[in-house]
Amino acid sequence: MRQPIIAGNWKMYKTAAEAVEFVRDLKPLAGGAKHCEIVICPPYTSLEVLAPELAGTGISLGAQNMYWEAEGAYTGEVSPGMLLAAGCKYVILGHSERREYFGESDETVNRKLKAALTNGLVPIFCVGEKLAEREAGTTTQVVRRQVTGGLAGIAPADAARMVIAYEPVWAIGTGRTASSEDAEEVISFIRGVVEELFGPETAAEVRIQYGGSVKPGNAPELMGMPNIDGALVGGASLDPVSFAQIVNYQA
Ligand code: PGA
Repeated sequence: MRQPIIAGNWKMYKTAAEAVEFVRDLKPLAGGAKHCEIVICPPYTSLEVLAPELAGTGISLGAQNMYWEAEGAYTGEVSPGMLLAAGCKYVILGHSERREYFGESDETVNRKLKAALTNGLVPIFCVGEKLAEREAGTTTQVVRRQVTGGLAGIAPADAARMVIAYEPVWAIGTGRTASSEDAEEVISFIRGVVEELFGPETAAEVRIQYGGSVKPGNAPELMGMPNIDGALVGGASLDPVSFAQIVNYQA
């Protein structure tokens, strides 16, 4: 059985003090949830301060990006080992905003995925089509290319323990959610691509989230779909009450 995983992607929001306040508010509302795993992915500057706040709550910590090298002259970058030392279990990689604004490609995302896995971090690997691609009917082609390129050269056992997030770009921050049927269709297609690449066992194990305008109101229906194993939540993860409502969904 795949345990659903709900991760909050805070993007470039909240100072360290605001992050601590959020977690103190969230703990009584969502700490101890058993039906799903909960992850918070704040900016780098809040990681160290949140790790002790989250200890013993069952809520895990994740980063939003990293570089693939262990160390070196790479001004502004952060390594996998640094994230581990800061208390991270997860790292979001290949988010569409990274691809769009920071020039990330399937190839660089692949290098990051390999570095994360080698260092014992669990990647949350994001894929998803843009609006023009959906309208042109190329969703499955685009998603297949991203999944195949991102996972090139990765061992089946590593692929099985990572998380994939399907986030149609047109649904991110727009209030426009994919219908649960559309999300289920693409996510089951992605599981099929994982099966082609790594075999049925890996495909049955890998967790695939949906992301894009997930809110307390649409979470139960999305989470009720057989292939959707949780959510990657942006805007609605910034408020402890709405994030707790999502996490406490009743599918
Ligand atoms: P959203 O963002 O929930 O605000 O649409 C999701 C994401 O970008 O991960």
